[in-house]
Formats: sequence, structure tokens, C-alpha cells
Amino acid sequence: MNQDALKKAAAQAALEEIRALAPNAIIGVGTGSTVNYFIDALAHSALPLRGAVSSSEASSRRLAAHGIALISLDDIETLPAYIDGADEIDPGFNMIKGGGGALTREKIVAAVAQRFICIGDASKKVSVLGRFPLPVEVIPMARAQVAREIARLTGGIPRWREGFVTDNGNHILDIHGLAIPNPAALETELNQITGVVTNGLFARRGADVLLLAAPSGVERSERG
Ligand code: A5P
Repeated sequence: MNQDALKKAAAQAALEEIRALAPNAIIGVGTGSTVNYFIDALAHSALPLRGAVSSSEASSRRLAAHGIALISLDDIETLPAYIDGADEIDPGFNMIKGGGGALTREKIVAAVAQRFICIGDASKKVSVLGRFPLPVEVIPMARAQVAREIARLTGGIPRWREGFVTDNGNHILDIHGLAIPNPAALETELNQITGVVTNGLFARRGADVLLLAAPSGVERSERG
């Protein structure tokens, strides 16, 4: 089974997870290759959803292309579920996200969701976060200063994702060389640096449900 087949299997499992939602429900939709499979599966399902709050321009385009209504975050107070992938997931359901650069909007949409359903292939599971470079969205004029501060605070190596501009018009620094035993503390600390918009640690609002696909099937686990 190749990785795409695993991503599809996880996406399909997420569809089953939201099948019980009330007709006319609105869901939150993340960003990335696994979520793309979820959007496609949603479009071909007969689920009577009202629409989706999207976490990126790319997901919005895909949802719209399938005729799925885009709902503004301003028009809702809460979402029953947010479906998104992750780049790494630790045993405490903390995640690194933002490999695709959509971390800030992902974090905003996840913040209003009652349940964060994380989908991916089982290779995303790690014992300690940090092998995947941690993305940090920064205000462009602050990039060099934020990079120095990150290096001083974390000992990691921040690298500018050159040529990449986020949906919000900002830049990304990817921090290499970290081991993150306490993700919630680092998430908070990085967000205190002036010029940081947000960072890709999803610990203060981690996942509630993991649907991780392996060749043997999709393993479902729920935060205790
Ligand atoms: C997008 O910014 C990311 O947070 C993605 O959700 C994450 O990188 C997972 O993407 P894939 O499903 O493509 O692995």
C-alpha cells in the first residue's frame, strides 16, 4: 500500500467520523495532501452539510470547485468538527503542522472546533516532536530579528522558507534541530516573540481524535 492509498484511507475514515453530524452542519477543513483526499471524498458523499470553513486559499479553491459552500468564520461561533492533517504527532496528541504553510489559519479554525480530527498515515507518529522542522509564520520585516531570537531561545536553526509567502502575506521560518519534550511551553514561548504571528505547534489546542492509516487498517485513538 503506498502513502497516497494510506492518506485516502484516513480521509475516508474521517468521513465516517462526521457522518453522524446533524444535517446542515458546518465543518472546519484543514490543508494539505491528506485533506485534499478528504475534500474529494466529502464531495462524492451524500452528506447533507451546509458547508465548510476553510483554512487556506488552496482548500477554499478545492472546496469551491466541488461546489461545497464556503462559510466565513465571522458567521459562526463554533464548529462540531475540524478535519486536518499533521506533519508530526506525539503520544500526547500534540502536533507539528504548517509544512504547507497554512498554520495560522489552521490554528484559527481549529480554535473554534469542538473536536479536532487529525488524519494521516501512521508514519506521522513520533515519540518526541521536532525531527520535522517547526514552521513559524513571521511578519516579513521582523524575519531576521525573529530568527536571531529563535536561535537564542531554542538552540534550533531557523531557516527562511525562501520564495514562500503565506495566505496572510507573511514569511515562514522553519526551525531545524529541535527536540520538543514540552510542546505547550515552547508553543507559548515562541508566540511571545514580537513579529511572530504564530508557530506550528498545536499543543495548547491539540488533536482530539487521531485516524492514522497503516497497511493493516486505520487506527482510531481518542484523547483520554
Ligand atoms: C499545512 O499547512 C499543514 O499543516 C498540513 O496539514 C500538514 O503539513 C499535513 O500535510 P499532508 O497531509 O500533505 O502531509
